[in-house]
Formats: sequence, C-alpha cells, structure tokens
Amino acid sequence: MNRIGMGEVSLSEAEIRAAHEVLSSGALRQGPRCEAFERDFARRFGATHAVSNSSGTAALHLVWMSILEPGDEVLVPAFTFIATASTVTVAGGRPVFCDVDPNTFLMDLEDAEKRITDRTRAICPVHLFGNTMAMEQVQELARRHGLKIVWDAAQAHGARYQGRELAGYGDFVCYSFYPSKNMFVGEGGMTCTEDAEAAQLLRDLRSHGQTGKYYFTSLGLNYRMTDVEAAIGCEQIKGFDEKLATRRRNARILMEALEPIAGIRPQVTTEGAEHAWHQFCLVVDPDKLGCDRDTLMKRLDEQGIDTGIHYPKGLHQQPVFEEIYGKPESLPVTEWLCEHILAVPVHHGLSEEEAHRVARTIAEVAGS
Ligand SMILES: Cc1ncc(COP(=O)(O)O)c(C=O)c1O
Repeated sequence: MNRIGMGEVSLSEAEIRAAHEVLSSGALRQGPRCEAFERDFARRFGATHAVSNSSGTAALHLVWMSILEPGDEVLVPAFTFIATASTVTVAGGRPVFCDVDPNTFLMDLEDAEKRITDRTRAICPVHLFGNTMAMEQVQELARRHGLKIVWDAAQAHGARYQGRELAGYGDFVCYSFYPSKNMFVGEGGMTCTEDAEAAQLLRDLRSHGQTGKYYFTSLGLNYRMTDVEAAIGCEQIKGFDEKLATRRRNARILMEALEPIAGIRPQVTTEGAEHAWHQFCLVVDPDKLGCDRDTLMKRLDEQGIDTGIHYPKGLHQQPVFEEIYGKPESLPVTEWLCEHILAVPVHHGLSEEEAHRVARTIAEVAGS
C-alpha cells in the first residue's frame, strides 16, 4: 500500500517550462515576471496593490520596518509559526503573545484586547491553517484602539470571508509561497495593501530603499523575488482553483468521517468563512478516544499515513523569546492545543480514494 504523505510538492509541466524559459533567458533577477505575478495575484485574490518578496518572512519583516517605532507592541497569537512574531522583534518591536480560541485555533480577541497598552501599535491576526479570522471583529477592535492590522495570510491563499477574498482587507495582508503552502514557488512572499503609498514604500524597502540609481532614501534590504519564482507563480495561479477545490473536497471527506468520532475534534471553521485547508488539524481528547495524540500518530504511521504537529510549543514558550522577554505567563489554550493537536493529510495531491483511506484508517486505529 502506498504511503500517504503530508504534501510533497511537484511542479506541473507548464510551471517547469515557465521557469525554464526564464533560466534560459539569463534574466534571473526581479523583472517583468515579478510585475506580472503581482498583477495576477492582486487580481485573483482581490487586492489593489501586491508587492512580491523573497519569502513570507521578508514580507512581514518589511511591513514591520515600515510601521513600527522601537519598542512598539504588536498583538500576535502564541499559536502560530515563529515568523509572525520574530519579524516584529527583528524590526525593533515587541510581540505580545495572546491566547487562542480552543475551537477555531485562532487569536482570541477578548484575550488580545486585555493586553492592549499605550505602546500597542498593531495587531497581527493569523488565518491559521487556512481558517479565517472573523474579519469585522478584528477591524472593529483595531478601530477602537487605533491599531494597524497586519494579516498573516501565509497559510490562507484562497480562503474567503463572507464571500470576499482576503487580500483586499488592508492595512497589510502577507502571504508565503514556501513549498508546503497552497501556492508554492520555491521561496517567495507577497504583501497586499490598498494603500498606494504604503505599497511604494514596501517596494523601496525590498530594494535597499533605493529610489534613484545608487540613491537611497530609506533603510531597506534585498528582499526581492526573482523572475524564476514569479514565472512559476504566474503559471500556478491558473490552476489554483482546481487545487483549492481538491483540498476542500478532501476536507469534506475527512470532516464527515471524523466529526462523529467522540474524542476527535477537527478545527472549527469560523462562521462566514470558506476555509482554504492548508492543513486539516484536529485535537485528540484521550479520555474520550481511548488513546492520546502521540499514540494515534504512531498507529497512523504504522498504517502508512504521515501526520504532523503544528505546533508543538506556543511561541511564548520558545527558548528564544524566553531569553529575550523572560519567563512567560501561561497561555492555557495554546499550551493545551500544543499537546493535543494533530495534522492529517488534506493536500491537493491526495486523491478522493486516499482521502477516504485517511479518514477510514483514523476511525479504525482510534478504536483499536
Ligand atoms: C503563519 C506563517 N507566517 C509566516 C510564515 C513565513 O513564510 P516563509 O516561510 O515564506 O518565510 C509562515 C511560513 O511557514 C507561516 O506559516
């Protein structure tokens, strides 16, 4: 029986051809393909301006560089990938870790609001695993406290909220094209914004703050995407909806089979959201299921099914942040999730039959 993985990447023939064309032309650096990719991406995901970068981390870092003063605080969920917070620190700000909702696994806005001080400058909600935040609730909170919103959409290409694409929500919406993501070009990132001036500043910053030939008006870095990756991106966007539909079909199959099992609780999709299923994550309640998360993981591995743990530690518990900010206060939901969460295959390379096999196997081994 074939082993089912968590989503190995393979490029289509057309994507390989597009990359090859650029490679053979020798024009490898940021150029017309990057411009085309920015245009296509903005059109598909509903933004006015899109600025490409060398990674999702670079995209976030430049946004923080463009809006933070030293010591400014940013509300971030503790249950996310490190780049959401590390980029704040590297840009001179301070991430303030917030707990998350036990059902949606997304930032708990009540908890976040309690942590607002007169140093709080921004909030960085993460559309984790492709599930969207309740957008208007974040906007309302930000409005009340005068905060900028930087949406971390690294995992959410294709997700929608109340029928609307996410990239146009402003102030900044940051994406990643790392190979595990719903769109992947190698390494790459994109920031979308509705603000033309902000977009121009990000364009300057990704290129050393250069606004004329060897003339620098702001302090930037080299965070440009190359035309090789952009060519793959332009091609990939054409087949994106088909891949998204496959992820959604697979998620439906898993959901139908797993929801009735006592002791297994899949991530709850936010009301009004259309999930993009970057990951299908569930929590295991050992008292009800009869086995714990790690045992379930081992049994699935024995049956040829790979799984993953996203994430094994809250960011507040990461040694690097403990070293910088001292012993953290406990964030109980995040810590509980880290011990009980499991990601199972849902990716677009998974056939209908394989999705059924994943669901069936979970049901079988959970009871054994
Ligand atoms: C939530 C989140 N934010 C930011 C990033 C950073 O993106 P990249 O890996 O492209 O730098 C990732 C990537 O894993 C992510 O999952």
